[in-house]
Amino acid sequence: MTVLVPTMGSLHRGHQALIKRARTVSKEVIVSIFVNPLQFENKEDLEKYPRSPQLDIKLATLAGATEVWFPEYEDIYPGEITTLSAGPIGSLYEGASRPAHFDGVLTVVNRLFEIVKPTHAVFGEKDFQQLFLIKGISKKVEIISVPTVRSGSGLALSSRNIRLSEIEQESALIISKALTAASV
Ligand code: PAF
Repeated sequence: MTVLVPTMGSLHRGHQALIKRARTVSKEVIVSIFVNPLQFENKEDLEKYPRSPQLDIKLATLAGATEVWFPEYEDIYPGEITTLSAGPIGSLYEGASRPAHFDGVLTVVNRLFEIVKPTHAVFGEKDFQQLFLIKGISKKVEIISVPTVRSGSGLALSSRNIRLSEIEQESALIISKALTAASV
């Protein structure tokens, strides 16, 4: 059995939880690190996406990864790109402000599955819409989901958090506070 943990790098404890869960399924855990241009709607966001390859290797290995794979663009998209469509659900919620984002996510995940041919793949519940859509396209790969990992303040861990100012981090907490309030 081979378990794939697809990521865009800049790993944190949330990714490590995915890798640890993968290790409960198999001794062969591949972590892919590829910042997929197809899922970014703006060039600046793509260029500013945090990258820390050396630290990523360390954190992935510590969590139990047996291989950390940094594919090149040409490995993933060697020729003309066959884009997968996320359908109407891809245009709702997060997709309403990020047109084509979920098409890009499904396209890369499908390519990663074609190349690695894993038996299982692990994704976080933080990106719930992404998880739902990926489950919809995964015919041969068993999808495992892992609950969101949060900081002490309640903020969901995300590679992009390092780009938030203190005030923005404070505002982002409104989401976890609302979720906690709604669950009581
Ligand atoms: O959740 C992510 O990090 C990305 O959307 C994924 C699934 C690795 C595809 O690029």
